[in-house]
Amino acid sequence: MRRPLIAGNWKMNMTDGETKKFLDKLKSLKNSDNVEVCIISPFTSLKTLTEFLNETEISTGAQNLYYEDNGAFTGEISPIMLKDLGVDYVIIGHSERRTIFKEDDELLNKKIIAALNHNLKPILCCGENLEQRENNIQEKIVENQIRSDLKGISEEELYSKLVIAYEPIWAIGTGKTASSDDAQSMCKFIRNLLTKLYCEELADSVRIQYGGSVKPENVAEIMSKDDIDGALVGGASLDAESFSKLINYGK
Ligand code: PGA
Repeated sequence: MRRPLIAGNWKMNMTDGETKKFLDKLKSLKNSDNVEVCIISPFTSLKTLTEFLNETEISTGAQNLYYEDNGAFTGEISPIMLKDLGVDYVIIGHSERRTIFKEDDELLNKKIIAALNHNLKPILCCGENLEQRENNIQEKIVENQIRSDLKGISEEELYSKLVIAYEPIWAIGTGKTASSDDAQSMCKFIRNLLTKLYCEELADSVRIQYGGSVKPENVAEIMSKDDIDGALVGGASLDAESFSKLINYGK
């Protein structure tokens, strides 16, 4: 049985002070036990986040890393630094990194390897843009991304670590959600691909999230699908009350 993972990706939002207020509020709200919850903040809030959530079941994540351990890489953050803070997850290949910051699959592959080497769990994001969806090549696009991003990585390295987030770019921050059937069909496609690339046992164990305009009103419908094991949530994760509704979707 895969335990669902609902993760809030704060993107470039929330100061350290705002993070403290969010966490205080979240603490007073009741959270679900059946779901793993993760908060993914900017680097500047990670220390506050990990210290605060240390004693709780809530996991933490970073939004990016660089693949070297240390050195002359001005402005970058290494896996060692994240691990030292007690961070659990790291997003790799978010579409905003791919498009705005021109991160390509070769770089993302190195980042995933670095994360795994340091025992950080990668949340690998993949997904097509609107034009690709209109041309009905979303499966080809996602397959190419996953094949390249996981290149040279063995099955053993991925067990209980890899999470994949299917995030169609046209649904991110736009209010347009993929229909739950379309999301399910892509998540199933990804699981079948993992069977092809590795084996059924690994494919069955990997959690595949959907992301793109998930909110309290549509989360239950999305989560009801067989191959969707969680959500990566941007906008609706910034407010503690809304986030609490998301993680309690089953109640
Ligand atoms: P959104 O973002 O929920 O605001 O659409 C999702 C994401 O980019 O991870």
